[in-house]
This record gives sequence, C-alpha cells and structure tokens, in this order.
Amino acid sequence: MDEFQSLLQTIQRLFNIQCSNYKEDYIKRRLASRMNSRRIPTYKEYQEYLLKNKEEHEALKNALTINVTKFFRDPPVFEVVKTEIFSPILRKKKKLRLWSAGCSSGEEPYSYAIMLYDLTAIQKDVDWMVIATDIDDTILRKAKEGVYEKTSLELVSESQLRRHFKQRDDGKYEIKPHIREKVKFQHHDLMSGVPASRFFDVVSCRNVTIYFNDRQKTDLVHMFYQGLSPGGYYVMGMSEFLSREVEDLFAPFRPLQKIFVRKDTK
Ligand SMILES: C[S@@+](CC[C@H](N)C(=O)[O-])C[C@H]1O[C@@H](n2cnc3c(N)ncnc32)[C@H](O)[C@@H]1O
Repeated sequence: MDEFQSLLQTIQRLFNIQCSNYKEDYIKRRLASRMNSRRIPTYKEYQEYLLKNKEEHEALKNALTINVTKFFRDPPVFEVVKTEIFSPILRKKKKLRLWSAGCSSGEEPYSYAIMLYDLTAIQKDVDWMVIATDIDDTILRKAKEGVYEKTSLELVSESQLRRHFKQRDDGKYEIKPHIREKVKFQHHDLMSGVPASRFFDVVSCRNVTIYFNDRQKTDLVHMFYQGLSPGGYYVMGMSEFLSREVEDLFAPFRPLQKIFVRKDTK
C-alpha cells in the first residue's frame, strides 16, 4: 500500500469518514493545505504527526468538511422558497416537513425556520418542522447552541434580528428558543444511501456535493427522491448541477435558483 492510501486508512479510522467516497483530488488538495501549514513534506510523516498530535485532528477534519455558511445565503433562493414553495404548501396541506442536509453550524436550517415561523404567525393552524443533519458532530454541537457572530447574520433583517435573536454580553447573537425548538439536529452521513426520514416536502442540500464524485452525486439524488413526498422540492447550491442521469427523477422548478421538483408517474 502506498503512503497516501495508508494515510487515508488512518483518517477513515480516526474520523469515521468514508474517504473513498470523496474525489481523490479533493482530498489531496485539502491534505496539502494542512501539510503546508505544518511544514510536513510527505504523507508518511503527516500520518505519523496525525497519530501523535490530537490537536491536528480537528484542523484536518475542518479542512476535509469545510463548514462555511451564513444565514439566508443566496437571498433569491430563500425568496422563491418562501413565496412559491412554503406559502402554497402551508395553505394547501397545513403541514410542512423540511430536511436541511449538510446543515453545518445551523445557519441554513434556522433561516428556513425563521421564514416558516413568520409565515405561520399569520396562519396558525399549521404544523411544520425542520430536520437538520450533518456528518460532523463538532459542527452539530455548535448548531444546537445557536450562537453566532454578527458577520454570519448580515442578511438577517433588523426585524428578524430583534424578534428571533438575543444579543449576549460578549456581542454574539443567540437564536431564541421559539426557533431553536423547531429545528431537530441529528448526525447523518449523506453517503449512507438512506434518507434521514421520509415524506419531506423540501430537501435543501446546498454546497455539499462539491466534495462528492459523480457516482456519489447520482446516488445522493436517488436518495433524496426516496426521502421526498411526491411533488416535493429539491434545493441545490448555486454552483451545483443535476446530472442528465437523474433527469427522470426531477424536473426544473426554478432552475436559476437551482430548485427542482420530484417527478411522479403515479
Ligand atoms: C459548506 S457547508 C454547507 C452548509 C449549508 N448547507 C450552506 O449551503 O450554507 C458543507 C457541509 O456539508 C457537510 N458534509 C460533508 N460531507 C458530508 C456527508 N457525507 N454527509 C453529511 N454532511 C456532509 C460538512 O460537514 C459541512 O458542514
């Protein structure tokens, strides 16, 4: 086994991540950034370093599963979801289930929850929930805490900030319990092949598939198809694409905002 493969095995064992599911180039680039910052020239030496230095675990894990996110990232997407998806579903079904897959530190699912809370403040007889999942347990703990720097809140309106966040003594903002309680965070690996649950009206999986190879992306779309109700919506990241192989599963709904709708033959 070469040095790279041996290092991959160590990483898989330490973090419980299936490296074979990620593009090799991607892993090599992320590893190179860590090795450069530690001035370590070879995979073999980095493997030894990793085994001896626990503090490097966190740094490497962060490098492999970049968690960059913010509230209401890509506002036009949230606007379409609110007016063209949430409002009609709430009106017709009076019930809505959303899955935020690859939710990172919680900004995305809390943004959806804020919109749903505000919409249902007018229409009371409705039931909604947001399930938020990620593979990274450290980031999930942060998500559950719901404490944010002002920078990740720049797209939150003044009114939303006042109503749904509490400013703390240290200057950070904490999501209020009426929003926090509506979001259920759980560990879930998107490569497991099994959806977090079923009968979702909306699955939002944005800026996650950049780490996946083509086969994994296709499997993921099949999995979301299984997780959605007939006619349910799949929201992708702005730089992500639906491959031709899965055109029979989803039709464009608002292609500019990367929103697709589940096709159903029945
Ligand atoms: C860039 S963040 C995206 C956050 C949010 N969806 C957004 O668009 O702002 C990518 C997230 O995907 C998660 N992730 C990567 N691989 C995953 C996997 N196999 N299963 C679940 N989550 C994964 C990472 O841990 C990270 O938190």
